[in-house]
Amino acid sequence: MSDRGPLKFIGTAPAFLEALKRIERFATCEATVLILGETGTGKELAARTIHYHSARQGQPFVPVNCGALPDSLVESEFFGHVGGAFTDAREAKAGLIAHAKHGTLFLDELEALSLRAQAVLLRFLQDHEYRPVGGTRSYPAQVRIVGSSNADLRTLVRKNLFREDLLFRLNGLTVELPPLRTRGTDVVLLAQEFLHRLNQQHKAEPKVLAPEVLQALQAYHWPGNVRELENTIQQAYLLTDGPPITVVDSLPCQCGKEKADHAEACLCSPFTTAKAQAVAAFEVTYLTTLLRHTRGNLTKAAGISGKDRSDLSRLLKKHRLDRAQFTSAPSAHPCDPTQPGLASEHQSG
Ligand SMILES: Nc1ncnc2c1ncn2[C@@H]1O[C@H](COP(=O)(O)OP(=O)(O)OP(=O)(O)O)[C@@H](O)[C@H]1O
Ligand SMILES: [Mg+2]
Repeated sequence: MSDRGPLKFIGTAPAFLEALKRIERFATCEATVLILGETGTGKELAARTIHYHSARQGQPFVPVNCGALPDSLVESEFFGHVGGAFTDAREAKAGLIAHAKHGTLFLDELEALSLRAQAVLLRFLQDHEYRPVGGTRSYPAQVRIVGSSNADLRTLVRKNLFREDLLFRLNGLTVELPPLRTRGTDVVLLAQEFLHRLNQQHKAEPKVLAPEVLQALQAYHWPGNVRELENTIQQAYLLTDGPPITVVDSLPCQCGKEKADHAEACLCSPFTTAKAQAVAAFEVTYLTTLLRHTRGNLTKAAGISGKDRSDLSRLLKKHRLDRAQFTSAPSAHPCDPTQPGLASEHQSG
C-alpha cells in the first residue's frame, strides 16, 4: 500500500478555502470525516492532508478502493483471517484495520460498496472492534476512518443502494470540494504550479504558458477537475518544443468543439469577457512568477516589476494571492533585470 506523505493543496477560491478550513480543523479531532466532490477534485489529497495534519501523522495512512474489494472477501480484507479459516487461507493474514494501526483508513469510492459490505462496515463502525475471520478473539480498533464519495449518497439511500444508518455513521463531519469550473483563477494558479513542477523535474529550459492558453484553460469546464488539468498540462509540456506553450491539443472548447485551435483567439466568450479573462490570467501568472522569484518579498517584487508596492498589494488582494505562500525556494528567472548577466543571456539567446 503506497504512502506518499503530505502534498501541497493549491487554491484561493472562497469555496475551496472553506473546504481547506474544514480539512485543517477536522485534522485536529478524532471523528470520522466524509469527503465529497466530483472526480478529480482532490478528495484523496484532502484525506492525506487530514491525516498528515493530525496527531496520527507518524502512523500509516492506508487507502482502500472500496470498488476493488471482492465482495466475498470483505471481512477478510478488513479484519484479516487466521490460518486455515477458509480454502486458500493457509497462513494467517492481517487485515487493513490491523495494517493501519493507530493511523487512518481511507475508504475511497464508498458508493461502490455492496450492501453486504456496507453491513460489515456498519457493524465495525458501531462496535469499534473486529474479529479476524475464523478467529475467536476480538480486538479493539484504534484506526480513524475517513471516507470519500463522488456520488450523491443521499440519492443512493433513496434508491435503496446505500444504507441510511451507514451514511449517518459516516457523515458526522463533511468536507465538500468544489468543482474546478467554479474556482475562477484557481485554474491558472494550479496550471502554473503543475508547469513549475514539470520545469523542475525536466531540468530543460523552463517552459511558460502563453496567454491564449491560459485563457482557454479558464474557459473550459473541466469535467475531470484538477486531475484533468494536471494531465492536460503534462501532455502540453511534453508535446511542445519551444518555451512558450501556445497550443493545448487535447483541450476542447466550451462551445463543444472537440479540438480547438488555441493559437487563434477562442470565440466561446464575447470580446469583453475574453479580454477580462486574459488580463486576469496574465496578472495571476505574472504575480505568481514574480513572488515565487522573490520568495514573497514585496519590496523586491516592486523593484523588478516597476510597480508601486501598494499597487502590487492591491493586485494580490484582487486575486486573493497570499505572498506567504511563496516563501519556498525560487526558480531562477532568466528575465530578472536585477540579474544583468541572466537577462542579457536571455535576450541574446
Ligand atoms: N487543490 C489542489 N492542489 C494541488 N493539487 C491538487 C489539488 N486538488 C487535486 N490535486 C491533484 O489532482 C489529482 C487528483 O486528486 P485526487 O486523486 O485527490 O482526486 P479525487 O477527488 O480523489 O479523484 P477521484 O474521485 O477520481 O478518485 C492528484 O494528483 C492531486 O494531487
Ligand atoms: Mg480518489
